[in-house]
Amino acid sequence: IVLSSGLILAAYLLGSLSGSLLLGRLRGIDIRTQGSGNAGGTNAFRTQGAKFALGVVIIDIGKGALAAWLGLRFADASNAAWLAYATAFAAALGHVWPLWHGFRGGKGAATVVGGIAVLWPMAIPVLLAVWLGTLILTGYVGLSTILTGLTVAILALATQADAPRLAFAVAIALLLLFTHRANVARLRAGTESRFDKARLLHR
Ligand code: G3P
Repeated sequence: IVLSSGLILAAYLLGSLSGSLLLGRLRGIDIRTQGSGNAGGTNAFRTQGAKFALGVVIIDIGKGALAAWLGLRFADASNAAWLAYATAFAAALGHVWPLWHGFRGGKGAATVVGGIAVLWPMAIPVLLAVWLGTLILTGYVGLSTILTGLTVAILALATQADAPRLAFAVAIALLLLFTHRANVARLRAGTESRFDKARLLHR
């Protein structure tokens, strides 16, 4: 229990290292004052450009993957089934509510992807298809991410995942819905920003 709690705490602290906020410090900016105000890859792309955003996404996916890997690496017989899901999810919580950045972080999508890539790689092609497909059809990254989050839960149900994976998947869907609540409000109000270049149809 002590080791599991320590690992989960470490994963939370790792997740608290925010790619956009750390790289932003190097550049002398706080991305939370720009664009959508979100400390994540999408807003990094929107306000700082592609190279900066790539760095952000590598850090944020990487920390999610590392947290999951640590969970796998240090699991023992008593916690092997769930520890890595817990560390992966803790990293996402760290990203959303980061200790190092005044508890104001991002929405957790990239961090969650890193965890899923390690713990459930078979899901990635389906999630990528839903995310890209929605983005191409609508131009809304937030909507694409929300639907992808719901797909994680649906996929876990459809594949009759075991209880730890199902709990992880449902927790991800709920977390992403919650962190995207402002996007939902903007979508309903018709004020959500749209990447028109991403839209291949309906130009
Ligand atoms: O993961 C964040 C993305 O889904 C939405 O970002 O900046 O458009 O709110 P943003």
